[in-house]
Formats: sequence, C-alpha cells, structure tokens
Amino acid sequence: MAHTVPAGMDRKEAAAYLQLDSARLPRHIAIIMDGNGRWARLRHMPRVAGHRAGVASVRSTVETAARIGIPALTLYAFSEENWKKRPQTEVDFLMRLLCRFLKAEVNTLNENNIRLKYIGRQHELPASVRREMDEASEATAKNTGMLLTLALNYSARSEIVDAFRSLAEAASRNGGLAHMEVDEQAISDHLYTRGLPDPDLVIRTSGEMRLSNFLLWQLAYAEIYVTPTLWPDFRGLNLLEGIEDYQKRDRRYGGLATGGNGSAATRRTLTGAKR
Ligand code: FPP
Repeated sequence: MAHTVPAGMDRKEAAAYLQLDSARLPRHIAIIMDGNGRWARLRHMPRVAGHRAGVASVRSTVETAARIGIPALTLYAFSEENWKKRPQTEVDFLMRLLCRFLKAEVNTLNENNIRLKYIGRQHELPASVRREMDEASEATAKNTGMLLTLALNYSARSEIVDAFRSLAEAASRNGGLAHMEVDEQAISDHLYTRGLPDPDLVIRTSGEMRLSNFLLWQLAYAEIYVTPTLWPDFRGLNLLEGIEDYQKRDRRYGGLATGGNGSAATRRTLTGAKR
C-alpha cells in the first residue's frame, strides 16, 4: 500500500491519499454536484452565488482526480430538467459561468494532461456556448491523461432513446432493421459514453439519495457514496474520502461475498458490532 504522494497535495490530502490502495482506484468516478442553492441560502446569498462558488469545487476535484491517476471523471453539471424548470436568469447565469470556466481552465487542463468531452444533447444548447465547448475540447484533444466529461443538458432517458435511434439508423444503413442486433454491448456502444468504462463509483453531494436521471444504464453496478457536504464545500480531500469508502466495499456484481466469512459488513452484523 506504500506509495508516493503525488506532487501538489496539501498535508490533509496527502494523509488521506496514503490511506488508499493505489492499485484499486476506481477507473471511472461520476459525481452529481448538488447543494449549490442550499449553500447560498445558508449564507443569505442569491442561488447563483452557490453556482459561482461551485466552480472552485470543480477545479479542486478535477485536479485531485487527475493527480492520483483516475482515468475518467464525469460531472453532472446541467440536466435537461434544469434547463426546463429553472428561471431563465439562473439558466443564463449557468451558461455564462460554463463559458467562463471553459475559457479560464483550458491551460490548467492542459497542464494536467486532461482531455475534455461532453455528454448530453448539445444541439439544444445556445450556439455561443457550443462554440466555447468545441474550442475547449479541441484544445485538450491531444492530452492522454484523465478524461473529464461534463454532462450538459444531459438526461439518461434521452441518452437511451438516442442510443436506440442510433442503433436503428445504423441498421437501416446496413441492410435494414432485420439486421439490427440488440444486446448489452450494442446498446453500450451507442450511448454517449461509448468507449468509457462504466463508473465504479458515483458520488452525490448534499445528502440527497437519488440518481436524478444520471447515467442510469452505466451505473448498474456502481458503488454509491452520498456525502452531506454541499457541492461548494466539496474539495479534493472529500473525493479521497469517497474513494476510501469505496475501497471498503465488497463488490459482488450479483455473486457471493468474497473471503470465506462473507463481507466485512456481514461479519459486523453477525458479531453484533456497531455499524
Ligand atoms: C445543483 O445545485 C447544481 C447545479 C444544477 C449546477 C452545477 C453547476 C456548477 C457546480 C457550477 C460550475 C460547473 C461548471 C462545470 C463550470 P442546486 O442548484 O440544485 O442546489 P440545491 O439543490 O441546493 O438548490
């Protein structure tokens, strides 16, 4: 378990990192960033102040994930429902914040060898935002380190609908619907996340216990970590804590517990120890 602490970590992060088994890091972490509005309300500030503060959390989380060698990180920034159900002023603010973030962070992404991609129905976003998105992803396209995916105007159900449409179109180009092959691999290959491993760990901030239409297909076997921390208070250290919790889990994929006596959780229950 002994490993070298990656450069750039502070004392607390280094201590948390040393608790981790670097050979069993999640290959893909997905995060539902939640609680910006509550963070602002607690401070008697407008909701958008929570979104603005959330940018520092994105920066810290992305940097820490890249430093410790997480291959893929996906952040749920903006759902299809957000777009339809929030006041226009808040939506406009989020779009401006995103554009500013994309412009400001390209250099840092390149310094950390991070490639940027998006999932979601991009064609429904304003053209000016799409332009910034394209510029930022093109500027980082040659990087070979972590893949950072921003879910923007994203809905898992829409993604599955789009996957079926894409499967049907591919079949009709290739001899007709009679040739359409539908199995799990074919569906995965037509999702926005094609080529990415499914997330091993999904983190949700602010204590809410929902998936909120996020990566419903891909999260089938993910470990779920819910923290009461509101997104604007979340930092790289919290990410490391989530990974530590993940490494204590006994992943069974529908099979039996590993280790003769069952999982640590089962053993604790049988011996009556506190959980
Ligand atoms: C959920 O909090 C958060 C969002 C809908 C937006 C997420 C945006 C950011 C973190 C800003 C920066 C992101 C990027 C990629 C630049 P909420 O408003 O639903 O909070 P609440 O549940 O407390 O009201």
